[in-house]
Amino acid sequence: MGFPLHRPRRTRQSDLWRRMVRETHLSLDSCIYPLFVVPGRGVRHRVESMPGISQLSVDEAVAEAREVAAAGVPAVLIFAAPAQKDAKASAALDPKGLAAQAISAIKDACPQLLVWADVCLCGSTDHGHCGHVLPNGRIDNDASVESLAQVGLNYARAGADAVAPSDMMDGRVLAMRQLLDREGFETTPIVSYAAKYASSFYGPFREAAESAPAFGDRRSYQMDPANAREALREVLQDVEEGADLVMVKPAGPYLDVIRQVRDAVHLPVVAYQVSGEYSLIKAAAERGWIDERAAALETLTGIKRAGADLIITYFAPQLAKWLAE
Ligand code: PBG
Repeated sequence: MGFPLHRPRRTRQSDLWRRMVRETHLSLDSCIYPLFVVPGRGVRHRVESMPGISQLSVDEAVAEAREVAAAGVPAVLIFAAPAQKDAKASAALDPKGLAAQAISAIKDACPQLLVWADVCLCGSTDHGHCGHVLPNGRIDNDASVESLAQVGLNYARAGADAVAPSDMMDGRVLAMRQLLDREGFETTPIVSYAAKYASSFYGPFREAAESAPAFGDRRSYQMDPANAREALREVLQDVEEGADLVMVKPAGPYLDVIRQVRDAVHLPVVAYQVSGEYSLIKAAAERGWIDERAAALETLTGIKRAGADLIITYFAPQLAKWLAE
């Protein structure tokens, strides 16, 4: 029987009631904060399209990591934009490359912080694609997988607490798992960008990571935004290949996918609230068109409610402040 017996507003009538019947809780414990590392010293170069976010040299990235760790953020995700870019992605394959330097410096300075390392080739290739490109312009999947596994091993050796392949090549999780195990890193988890869509919401990130493709697009490896069943196939395959956590990316436009993945697997599900999702809120807030805090908290709550256990978000340091208020 419905109204007048049932009045759902009864448990909405005060802050105290709302607090008690709340189903979803945001916590810093589930947040990961991305850092963009560039060459040099003392560099803090603002990313125009991402207010509040800067490209940081290793020393500045260490300072930033210290700050967010002190605020209670448990993990960072490292992206590097090395100066040297070539067809082979030599900078990523260099065991002493920029990302490896950043990982070990942050790990030394902040042992209490988990350092996740994004594993991809796009920041180090001159063509900006996530894998090796054949003379005919196609992506060489299996050669890319070999390089990516090697890059993952480099980052594990540098001290990364987790490696996160974001390239979307087929078979890279298994290859990385096998190489890590063979080299004594059987305890390093793999966070797989399992269902990563070819999204327009990565636009601002490509400025931050200097990783826009020089020709073509990423649609032959990243997923078609129209597909959800395929996302489940990708996720289940990565689980079989040995992923420890699986990711859906972007988050906001793919809440249905997050929910389906949450229901299909028993691993932790990570959602990536990407650069474009962040910048939209920032830009509207700067114009006074939206309440930044309320909008950010609402999107993060929605992502959690959809089923994400962990959220990678550029709002992490602000969330620390908002939750402490
Ligand atoms: C690179 C990578 C991208 C992002 C994370 N890793 C960009 C891309 O695939 O073009 C996007 C993150 C964001 O937009 O915040 N493989």
